[in-house]
Amino acid sequence: MNNWIVLLSLLICSQHTANGNYLNEWSVQGNQVSVNPGTVTKCDPTMDYFPYKATVNFAKFKIEYFKTYKVVTNTQANLKYVLYQSGCPKPPAADANDVAGAFQIPLSRVYVDSSTYFGDLELMGERLAIRLVNGEYTDNPCMWRQLDSKWTVNLPYGELWTSASGFDLENQNPIVVSDIYETTYYAANEWIKFFAAFFNREMSVQSFADAVRQRWVCNSKAVQTQSVQKKMLFLYYWTTFYNNSNPAWITYKGWEVKSCKEEYRYCELFQAAGVIPINNDTSTLPVANAVTKIAGQDYQAVPDQSIIQYAKEADIILFMNPWCDPTAGTQCVQGFIDIFNKLSGIPAVNNKQVFHLSRVTDPMGGTKEESEGQLQPDALLKDIIKMAYPRLLPNYQFTFALNLYDSIKNGNLDCTSTPYALGCPVSGSALAAQCNNLTHVYVSLGPDGRP
Ligand SMILES: *[C@@H]1O[C@H](CO)[C@@H](O)[C@H](O)[C@H]1NC(C)=O
Ligand SMILES: *[C@@H]1O[C@H](CO)[C@@H](O)[C@H](O)[C@H]1NC(C)=O
Ligand SMILES: *[C@@H]1O[C@H](CO)[C@@H](O)[C@H](O)[C@H]1NC(C)=O
Repeated sequence: MNNWIVLLSLLICSQHTANGNYLNEWSVQGNQVSVNPGTVTKCDPTMDYFPYKATVNFAKFKIEYFKTYKVVTNTQANLKYVLYQSGCPKPPAADANDVAGAFQIPLSRVYVDSSTYFGDLELMGERLAIRLVNGEYTDNPCMWRQLDSKWTVNLPYGELWTSASGFDLENQNPIVVSDIYETTYYAANEWIKFFAAFFNREMSVQSFADAVRQRWVCNSKAVQTQSVQKKMLFLYYWTTFYNNSNPAWITYKGWEVKSCKEEYRYCELFQAAGVIPINNDTSTLPVANAVTKIAGQDYQAVPDQSIIQYAKEADIILFMNPWCDPTAGTQCVQGFIDIFNKLSGIPAVNNKQVFHLSRVTDPMGGTKEESEGQLQPDALLKDIIKMAYPRLLPNYQFTFALNLYDSIKNGNLDCTSTPYALGCPVSGSALAAQCNNLTHVYVSLGPDGRP
């Protein structure tokens, strides 16, 4: 393993100049990838090498800019990193006692431990910097092509760094990302600026994150005036009992009801969509035979009858954890429908208003929502609005969501109109074949088809 890392770390010595921040320039000839790294030829310590700066509004990190270096602080984890322009000397600030790591930037070889971050790097034009990943969970064709050609290698978590929680890298120096602690989707989305700082990619990323936030606010405002607000419940269902040596992680078979406190982002999302989250109050859930999980607010192994009573006003149910093997087919999805049909009496079930977010799955069984929901929270918001108030968005197609009952047409999965939907066959090679240009940069389209 060590040899391999050394191989990756071979210095590439070419140089180039740029107006504005110094960027990596990637090029691809066939499967041959090369990078012209964003290195300064002759460092002038009085020059501002970072004319494009990011402003952080919501997320739990900050970026301070100096002439030749930046100080990036993950305020959630209380970790400070010094990032200095490649070609310039390491600043004395990098040697301070409270500094967790010093990095020459832009980075060009990184390990990414969660597919949630693939889209962030791709969006800023740095997908090719991803050389090691923890699992091949993605529906992104060019990412699959990178995996296929072994430019990017899958290395299970724990074999490299066991202490890092996030996106890590070069010189085996971990970088901890704390997006999972954010209580809102748009704050989590803003972590793209954290990644951008390590690649000098502030400019494009700032306008992207601002546009996402602007669309979120605009759509949310537009939907708050509904005279009758829909009520929505998010629900989990576990098909088997999973034991774990840590009792807190045991999962009991059957329904799970989580409170807003535990899954705050969903409630925030529902409220932004003008929808009342039933999960806000779990005190009315009849819990006689259920298993209490978190501080008496989350419940597992909840019987059907309890769910029926608790959800008697639910207009819509969002089913959070449908999982089917990518080749599982109709039977698996029908199994979920049968499970929901036992809840007749709930308006959402009677009216077939049960949705899940596995409209697009990947060959490993992950979903687009898991890997990109945070990158495009504005699209996720629009999905929820469409579920609740479909007449407001007649022409909008769901990005992540699918009606559970619509998944099956004429007794079969509707794999023609939704080829990568839950239960439809999907292979890595079919995805890889869709990427015919490795330098292609993903442009995140808004729900209106606009970047
Ligand atoms: C889980 O497994 C442990 C050890 O294997 C066992 O002691 C414990 O009783 C199990 N818990 C449940 C709820 O089955
Ligand atoms: C959630 O519950 C609290 C306490 O009962 C209440 O004050 C608040 O308005 C509720 N929020 C929503 C969105 O229902
Ligand atoms: C590949 O995509 C890049 C970025 O979108 C573009 O600049 C380049 O011309 C494309 N190359 C080919 C061969 O299509």
